[in-house]
Amino acid sequence: MKSATRFFFAIVLICATPAMADTMREAVLRKAALENGLRPAEETWPEFEPEMAAVGRLLFESELLSLTHNVSCRNCHLDEYGSADGLPLAHGAGGIGEGLERMKSPAGILSRNTLALWGRGGVGFDVFFWDGRVDASSGEVRSQFGIMAPSDDPLVVTVHLPPVEFREMIGESDSTEWLRQGDVSAAAWVLQEIARRIRETPEIAAPLAEASGMDVGELSYLQIAEAIAAFIRSEFRLRETAFHRFIFKGEPLSDQELAGGLLFYGRGRCSICHNGPYFSDLKFHVIPFAQFGFGFNGFGIDYGRYNFTQDQRDRYAFRTPPLYNVTKTAPYSHSGVEPDLAGAIRAHVDPLAKIDTSRLSALDRAEVYRKIAIWSLEPSYAVELSDAEITKLVAFLATLEYNPEPVQ
Ligand code: HEC
Ligand code: HEC
Repeated sequence: MKSATRFFFAIVLICATPAMADTMREAVLRKAALENGLRPAEETWPEFEPEMAAVGRLLFESELLSLTHNVSCRNCHLDEYGSADGLPLAHGAGGIGEGLERMKSPAGILSRNTLALWGRGGVGFDVFFWDGRVDASSGEVRSQFGIMAPSDDPLVVTVHLPPVEFREMIGESDSTEWLRQGDVSAAAWVLQEIARRIRETPEIAAPLAEASGMDVGELSYLQIAEAIAAFIRSEFRLRETAFHRFIFKGEPLSDQELAGGLLFYGRGRCSICHNGPYFSDLKFHVIPFAQFGFGFNGFGIDYGRYNFTQDQRDRYAFRTPPLYNVTKTAPYSHSGVEPDLAGAIRAHVDPLAKIDTSRLSALDRAEVYRKIAIWSLEPSYAVELSDAEITKLVAFLATLEYNPEPVQ
């Protein structure tokens, strides 16, 4: 080769290398995302009846669903907080306002962080709540209703629960004290009372009866729950994100986003649990987040999945949370203990950077070590991630955002 030609090839190589490397990194990321179950958003869309969804919206926003008439589903599932509420722990019955204002009001405080609703009830999304206490992954709905489950649709069963939870939609007072026994008949009484109120509210009862093909007098809480489930399926359907456009339409990602995506599917090991079309395996894992608040089990303890299975291996395990719009739903974890995404990621791989054991009681310290022992069997155990890498992962998570504008 003549030296001029050699020089020409050298220039071409120098210019081509970064671009080619980029294309290769893009190809690796596309392959990994598809292999880990990412699908176009529309493929997750469930069927629902638009008339039911329209009346479901009225019910979702109605305080009639709260026995003590002072909270609606909307009070905790707000658009401005990505369908959660922006609080570490949910503030229910008796609460006033949103955000910090609500924390100062005389609200009933729940033991868990509010979950977002994106994709819930979509194709294949059949395990609900942090602890999966409504679970249809076996093909049959398992829930606290046992064989009395009101429906074989797990989202409809899920929607039966918020109105019968103390502090969530039932305020604590002398007149509600007898319901505390928490058995199926007390729950049934509450749901019947709500159905009675709805039957007496013509602006909701008439369209609900019409959409359900029933007379107003026949309406029960089941039709109310079916309408709310239709609303959730319609309103919170997955929409296309920047990451979908990258995977399915060949649009570019920034360098940080690309690097974050490669970490997510590669060395960060995130996709071992955050996979499938919803970025969740809908299974249960132990990530040793610090605990905030009094906890589901009291004394600052939340045994998570164990509460429902009584299986020792499920202690401290929670359902892998889906990650759509996760940038909008701070704070994070089942008890909302992490104020930002970087902290939430750090807690997965390096919990002792987040938990100061010297400030804990002997009991809490023992709990931390028990949690860590179970975590040591999980794929995120002691994965090495620098702060710069965590920043890249956060940039990647931001590509999973979308706006809740209605689908055309
Ligand atoms: C006081 C605040 C509050 C109110 C009111 C409320 N929710 Fe929630 N919602 C939560 C919290 C907290 C969770 C997570 C609870 C858990 O997993 O233990 C949740 C979870 C859910 C889930 C499960 C999501 C998932 O990922 O599995 C659905 C569905 C839901 N709520 C729908 C509703 C509906 C419908 C209403 C009204 C009937 C309602 N919520 C009222 C706070 C609230
Ligand atoms: C072993 C399974 C597993 C792996 C691996 C994993 N996660 Fe998680 N992730 C979970 C579980 C379970 C939770 C909730 C735990 C809790 O609240 O106690 C969670 C919570 C989160 C949250 C908080 C979401 C919210 O709504 O509160 C984010 C963000 C997150 N993970 C991102 C990641 C990233 C990024 C990686 C990779 C570095 C990763 N996860 C690896 C299982 C996993």
